[in-house]
Amino acid sequence: MRIDRFEMERTQCLYENEVEFNLSESGVQPYTVRELLETDASQDAFLDVALKYPHSNGSPELREHIASFYPGAQASNVLVTTGTSEANFSTLWGLLDDRGRAAVMIPNYLQAWGLARAYAERADAYHLVEREENGVRRWALDIESLRRAVTNRTKLILVTNPNNPTGGVLTEGEMDEIIRLARRANAWIVADEVYRGAEVDGTRTTPTFWGRYHKVIVTAGLSKAFGMPGVRIGWIVGPERTVAHLWSYQDYTTLTPSILSDRLARVATDPVRREQILARTRSILRTNLPQLEAWIRTHDDIFEYIRPVAGAIVLVKYRLPITSARLFDRLRLEHSVLITPGAHFGIGKYIRFGYGYDINKTLRGLEQVDRFLAEIGGKKAAARKRPVSRRARAVAR
Ligand SMILES: Cc1ncc(COP(=O)(O)O)c(C=O)c1O
Repeated sequence: MRIDRFEMERTQCLYENEVEFNLSESGVQPYTVRELLETDASQDAFLDVALKYPHSNGSPELREHIASFYPGAQASNVLVTTGTSEANFSTLWGLLDDRGRAAVMIPNYLQAWGLARAYAERADAYHLVEREENGVRRWALDIESLRRAVTNRTKLILVTNPNNPTGGVLTEGEMDEIIRLARRANAWIVADEVYRGAEVDGTRTTPTFWGRYHKVIVTAGLSKAFGMPGVRIGWIVGPERTVAHLWSYQDYTTLTPSILSDRLARVATDPVRREQILARTRSILRTNLPQLEAWIRTHDDIFEYIRPVAGAIVLVKYRLPITSARLFDRLRLEHSVLITPGAHFGIGKYIRFGYGYDINKTLRGLEQVDRFLAEIGGKKAAARKRPVSRRARAVAR
């Protein structure tokens, strides 16, 4: 077995602490332990936790809390993992084991793509495409590409919904079509729903794949919608027997989650607290996104984007004679700005900007992007270099 270098994660680790402006974050301003444990009593209780081995599949209370996020699920349907990363890893390793093909949604956070290439007989891409429907541009499922990717040798269909990097969310009709093709191929649907709960508009949480078909596994965790990536808690929700099978794979990886993380995650996933935490995330997104959009619009001669439905990320298409990998390098080296290039998601001339952290700092980073665009973009960009930055800042106040 060989594995691809996971470009996005590796470059982020290498450079995120070296640059002044990190616009590559894909979550929201993280909670502190103090904010999460609001009272003195709960902080004291946390300090009194004995540092023993925890339940290796997650404490019963944590698994119950997680199950309550998925209608009809019980604690026995839940396996706690070290981040969504391990949830995806154990699931793809456990389900594929060198046999069968995997159909993977592109563009995507390419972990599942790399795992499918390592563990499946073959990885087949299917696509989200930019499309105008009823006067609204959205990232839509390219059903033809899905039909081509799903054959009778397909063992699983990987869906990332809400999607990273597009921020797109599937319609009910698109979910039904994925289920229809999975059923026909007797394939699993593995739905990475780590952004579920981080919707930009409305009050409706993105629908889950859980409960719609008997061969569904959902993976998710606390890193994005919950704003707690450092807790490193993720989970698998699936049929009881499959969850038990996948658990045995974790005996060979991390063995157990951290006991401190299990304890913090119990607090975060308590059904009442969970709703407060997700409301905080949505409020950050709703405050920050218009400010980033105002900046993007000042570059509408070179930028085009579809407003994200969920997630703290915006994917912008650019018209400039430079590859996304080169643009990434030059912004980093010449302007101390880290963005995520389209190349890291399996697409071309796109930039992903994160907007879930300190928006004033983000806007200062975008001023550096303005400078870079003025340098490479010719007269028009150079002429508006200064006013653009001021205008963006004015919006931020
Ligand atoms: C779609 C998706 N799945 C999984 C992960 C990994 O999440 P975690 O930090 O929970 O391991 C990420 C991280 O960016 C992601 O975007």
